[in-house]
Amino acid sequence: MKRSDAEKRIAGLRDEIHRHDHLYYVEAKPEISDAGYDGLRKELERLEAEHPDLVTPDSPTRRVGAAPRSELPSIAHLRPMLSLESANTPGEARNFDGRVKRSLGRNDIPYSVEPKFDGLSVELIFEHGILKKGTTRGDGFRGEDITPNIRTVGAVPLRLRGEAPALVAVRGEALMPLGDFQQLNRWMTERGLSSFANPRNAAAGSLRQLDSRITAERPLTFFAYEIMMIDGAVHPPTHMEELDLLASWGFRVDRHKKRCRDIEEAIAFHASLAGERDSLPFEIDGVVIQVDSTADREALGTRTRSPRWALALKFEPRREVTTVEDIVVQVGRTGKLTPVALLKPVDVSGVTVSRATLHNAGEVAKKDIRVGDRVRIKRAGDVIPAVVERIDVKGKRRGKAFTMPSLCPVCRARVAGEGAYHFCSGGVSCPAQLKRGIEHFASRHALDIEGLGGKTVTLLVDTGLVGSVADLFSLTRDSLISLERFAEKSADNLVTAIEEAMRIPLSRFLYALGIRNVGEHVARILAGHYGTIENVTAANEDELVEIHEVGPEVARSVAGFFREKRNIELIDELKTLGVEIVPEKRREGPRPFAGKTFVFTGMLEQITRDEAQRLVESLGGHASSSVSVKTDYVVTGKNPGSKAAKARELGVAILSEAEFRKLAERP
Ligand code: IVH
Repeated sequence: MKRSDAEKRIAGLRDEIHRHDHLYYVEAKPEISDAGYDGLRKELERLEAEHPDLVTPDSPTRRVGAAPRSELPSIAHLRPMLSLESANTPGEARNFDGRVKRSLGRNDIPYSVEPKFDGLSVELIFEHGILKKGTTRGDGFRGEDITPNIRTVGAVPLRLRGEAPALVAVRGEALMPLGDFQQLNRWMTERGLSSFANPRNAAAGSLRQLDSRITAERPLTFFAYEIMMIDGAVHPPTHMEELDLLASWGFRVDRHKKRCRDIEEAIAFHASLAGERDSLPFEIDGVVIQVDSTADREALGTRTRSPRWALALKFEPRREVTTVEDIVVQVGRTGKLTPVALLKPVDVSGVTVSRATLHNAGEVAKKDIRVGDRVRIKRAGDVIPAVVERIDVKGKRRGKAFTMPSLCPVCRARVAGEGAYHFCSGGVSCPAQLKRGIEHFASRHALDIEGLGGKTVTLLVDTGLVGSVADLFSLTRDSLISLERFAEKSADNLVTAIEEAMRIPLSRFLYALGIRNVGEHVARILAGHYGTIENVTAANEDELVEIHEVGPEVARSVAGFFREKRNIELIDELKTLGVEIVPEKRREGPRPFAGKTFVFTGMLEQITRDEAQRLVESLGGHASSSVSVKTDYVVTGKNPGSKAAKARELGVAILSEAEFRKLAERP
């Protein structure tokens, strides 16, 4: 075939396949047989193989996944990806409505309502209609680059239909439908792989793969719900029209959407969707209620993390009744003992629940839960199912009351009470604590060692190959292959994954150590304050409490942890084994806005409101939305609102945008 003919045919095939993809994945109305579709794809693949220079990233053949990557790079969002204020009751929704009315100074506020999808929030960037980037939400400011993965999702258009603006950022939710989720879990269980706890984790796990060919095999879908940014066209005047525009570009937009005259209509929609929830093919966990008019939204503005014009009205957690078959005691990473009810498996809308936490001995006693009892359990989103209450069954003989064991069920060390909880005193000599500790050390936000999940850790500890986190770094291909579960490839993979984790930023390392009360946030604060591991280990309690956001309890745990000789020895051993703890940039000492509260009003011209608020926070200050006697500064932009007047009334200092910027720049 002549090159120019091939080019024409390729373009024709792509249009045809895009059209069929849209009919199949978005409209669920296929017009062609599977064989017919495969024929088109095969022909396109063949022509592209003959003319590799004609391959473009928006070709439907690019949906199959690309070569694996070594990491998911983090990239900044074009605009911060905000989250939603959430509410659980109609009363809270009415309060929200009241705030909106007061701010806008009118009473007729139409709202748009739609499902709150329970999946993974994703940002997609299209340049001149072509999909260029896909990112996870991350912390709202930066997310992970999942471009090759998102391309494999059939419901994501690789190119927009119709008139496409120069640049557009679309936000939506990636989901795994319930039926597909169950099928995937069965498939994984049959192969001895650990299954996903719920469809949301399955979607997130599938999209965060380094190998997008795995993502391509996972049945994901995507619903679009927001145009975060548009350049080269105007933003539609209402949210309902925004959704229509998204649909016209070829996105899947859910049919449960409505413009409501007022908040009562929105609340009624919530009730009606709650009734329909169990018959939907995917998980939703509430209704998103948003001011419909774009102009009104702009007038309302946003807080640091969430807009003032939107609310997530959640559904009640799902409840089911089942029987307690046993109560076992689980030992956590810190040695905490948690009573867990083993249940007769029960399906809670698509997810089989066979265990539920009973929290602590006091809870078991208060709810009086015993083996053999009928209980009501609840499952909300991705939290561990919990036992809500016992259901009294008349005339039924009951089992013995539960008591906490006095010895650790795993290592037989003494159990000590501490407040409401009980702890095993065995430390890392308790295999359970050791295993959980290693799992935590290897987990995603710590060293992120792929392939080192619960089952593998149990195997490594039980066979004596690993007795501390340091031993991980002496594992070899040969020692792993000697274990039954490891083939050559999986042994190589694990050794490589461990090697790759040996250069670790200080904040992640601190988090990985599993110090009590030190989560990711505190770990980042400590890393930012001290810069190096040597400085952190030398810190004393008095010095620690001085750090902003570090309370006495945290200070005590941190200082206590590094006072223990064996912990210092562990860190030294890790360094000797070649673990490189990468120092972090210290945040320059003084925080000029510490203790100061800022309120912004009116339109800022040099920077966005969000940027200004983040600036305040980065300098140690606090940004608030309302003026009171506690406010230190009110910063006024163009057309300042009533807040400026209130500031004058209360004698609060008023700054122009320029003055504010000068203040922020002063060393
Ligand atoms: S609108 C400014 N609409 O719920 C926020 N969010 O914390 C714009 N979500 O992270 C979001 N379904 O990922 C919106 N129909 C929907 C949604 C939705 C799910 C997610 C979103 C956000 C989280 C709320």
